[in-house]
Amino acid sequence: MSNTHLLAEGVPTRRSWTVIARRVVAVLAVALVAWVAWLWWDSRFPAIYSTVPESAAVLGHGGHSRSSDELTGDHPTRSIADLGVDPALPPDVRVTLEARSADLSNATGGVFSGYTLNGSTPGPEIRARQGDLVEVELINVNIADGTTLHWHGVDVPGAMDGVAGVTQDAVMPGESFTYRFLAEDSGTYWYHAHQVSHQQVMGGLLGPLVVEPTGEDTADIVMLLHTYPGGSRTLAGVPGQTRQEFAPGSIVRVRVINTDNGTSFVWVPGAPVRVLAIDGTDLHGPGPVQQTKIRLAAGGRADLEVTVPPDGGVRVQTAGASLILGPGEAGAPETPAPAAELDLLAYGTPAATPLAHAEVDKSYEYIVGQRPGFLDGRPGYWWTINGKMGKHVPSFSVREGDVVAMTVTNKSSEVHPMHLHGHHLLVLARDGVTSSSAPWWTDSLDVAPGESYDVVFLADNPGVWMDHCHNLPHAVEGLMTHVVYEGVTTPYLLGRDSGNEPE
Ligand code: C2O
Ligand code: CU
Repeated sequence: MSNTHLLAEGVPTRRSWTVIARRVVAVLAVALVAWVAWLWWDSRFPAIYSTVPESAAVLGHGGHSRSSDELTGDHPTRSIADLGVDPALPPDVRVTLEARSADLSNATGGVFSGYTLNGSTPGPEIRARQGDLVEVELINVNIADGTTLHWHGVDVPGAMDGVAGVTQDAVMPGESFTYRFLAEDSGTYWYHAHQVSHQQVMGGLLGPLVVEPTGEDTADIVMLLHTYPGGSRTLAGVPGQTRQEFAPGSIVRVRVINTDNGTSFVWVPGAPVRVLAIDGTDLHGPGPVQQTKIRLAAGGRADLEVTVPPDGGVRVQTAGASLILGPGEAGAPETPAPAAELDLLAYGTPAATPLAHAEVDKSYEYIVGQRPGFLDGRPGYWWTINGKMGKHVPSFSVREGDVVAMTVTNKSSEVHPMHLHGHHLLVLARDGVTSSSAPWWTDSLDVAPGESYDVVFLADNPGVWMDHCHNLPHAVEGLMTHVVYEGVTTPYLLGRDSGNEPE
């Protein structure tokens, strides 16, 4: 068939095709620009808003709706500010912490802008006995952004959780805030800032908290791991190797706390070790393990039972920092991390846990992904939760008393240490394989790429609770949502104009 023939039938010429194509491209380009502009616009958080839409209505602020099925119950509303400890109860432990920003130097001589509590970082070790009422007054001396304290792993009452814009306003320079909570559960915990936390935590606004069990009196020592900006890993602020005097034969509970943003492994070269507790909760029937590394998710804790040998020292080791327990200058070998990793789904002995078999009231999926888009107007490759980004991420609504099942799935290419405030999660299964171990309760759970965890928790602590990734820069990049109790409102606000910036 020839061209002449086609022309004769009135088919558009090559030139007119080009014109049509150009127009189509132009229209598509305009549509694309309009669509991207709309995506940008639609991603922006209001300058001021509430985590709980109903509070915004109460307060008369224009909030945005984070989820449509929130607050549909008939519970009377309560303000989170009222969910504290009876002010008439006298404290058993009282601490004042003065928070400052300061130029600090790390071991390599580099200077970074960091933070101190009572003049040092990490801040003082706070110790309480199980059942104690703990009272901590936080004074912000000069931190321009403001600050707060969050009690990582402690199921504090709603008003005491220390999340700026959700459970309180950031404490500005010259101001103070008093935290009061009952140390109901013994265990290893830590505290840290939850205002601009990705900067303040790394910069050193943190410290250890130990709740000792009543009765028992074993020797114990805290091993708080932290990497300061531009520095190497430290143990209680000291880089490299630290030693602690213990007589041969001593049995020591070593409380390891990972305050960094990434996973940390701990191991004990050449000696058996028992993992007594994970994230503050004792494990049932933990047996000795050897040549095995123990995982600590970011924010996570592991209590290890370590025995000082009769003829020297023993080393508790992590990448970059270690602790030698023993008499005098006792040495202890250093080894690379063992290949074998302890699987907490197959460690210890099972014990009755009613929650594992309780009837579930609510089931949620928490699927972590990643895609390009806008997060509060910024273009990037951001984290998604259930396919949503930023202000479109749903929060999880619960009622007091609910048994809540959650499947946490990681469809991204990085590990995410998932942290729910105010509750402990019971791990039921990983990738569909159910636990054959001691009940594994966690508050900081590493979910590796491709993994899926089934967890369950009891909604027994009314409030508005962050449920986020504890690789704190990831939280800034959108890996952050809340578990919201029906009927709980908050008078505190988020957004550019609020002064509160919890991530
Ligand atoms: Cu340790 Cu929301 O934090
Ligand atoms: Cu993450």
